[in-house]
Amino acid sequence: MNDNKLPIHVGIIMDGNGRWAKKRGFSRSIGHKMGAQNLKKLLKHIYKKNIKIVSIYAFSTENFKRDKKEVEYLMDLSIKFFTDELKTFMKENIKVLFSGRRDNLRFDVVQAMNELEENTKNNNNGILNICFNYGGRLEIIDAIKKIVMKVNDNDITIDDINENLVSENMYQDLPPLDFVIRTSGELRISNFMIWESSYAEYYFPNILFPDFNAKEFDIAIEEFQKRNRRFGGITNENESN
Ligand code: IPE
Ligand code: IPE
Ligand code: MG
Repeated sequence: MNDNKLPIHVGIIMDGNGRWAKKRGFSRSIGHKMGAQNLKKLLKHIYKKNIKIVSIYAFSTENFKRDKKEVEYLMDLSIKFFTDELKTFMKENIKVLFSGRRDNLRFDVVQAMNELEENTKNNNNGILNICFNYGGRLEIIDAIKKIVMKVNDNDITIDDINENLVSENMYQDLPPLDFVIRTSGELRISNFMIWESSYAEYYFPNILFPDFNAKEFDIAIEEFQKRNRRFGGITNENESN
């Protein structure tokens, strides 16, 4: 495999846990549990391939619209994941970041997030950005607020506002997304990292997240490697004139 064409930053919209469970006559909770188990194995595989930055969509701001019981289950499962996986992230030297609002989350969830972030902050072999209580439009609104405050404080002027400045005021200072995978067959992005994915390649496998394993990820990467990214310029390959 040609390492030059590996994406630097991959995003995964982990969708389809509920349908995975329904197909088997299980509760949605079982689907989420299997999704979390799959995520552990998948991350291990991804970092082993020398992909350095992964952003995952774990819980959207809109997911609070779900049944209270499902939301509580997802919160409990997330605490368990953040706590149990600390040893793996330390062993693999992965730094964990969280993107999203923390103000309306349960205290014990925020505590588990803070601990994981704090304990892994000096790791440097890869980054896992967990989008949790995250909304892409909300992230842009939060960036606008930060920028307006800087203008009000005379730290910057309106003329300083450009793409770089906006990027620097997003939740994380990470390179843009190269490749976004959404599992489950839905052909939408549901408010995931809309600023950061402006020139990302998209891939929509018709596979529910608990089944999206290492082999499926490799197929996704092969597809990415076939894409010709032009960024608005002219093509430089696979073209006769
Ligand atoms: C993704 O699976 C997990 C979260 C959104 C938290 P879903 O729960 O959306 O599963 P489907 O889409 O209903 O199958
Ligand atoms: C997107 O999935 C959010 C996550 C995967 C966390 P949803 O299942 O919430 O998205 P919609 O409702 O199908 O657009
Ligand atoms: Mg869904």
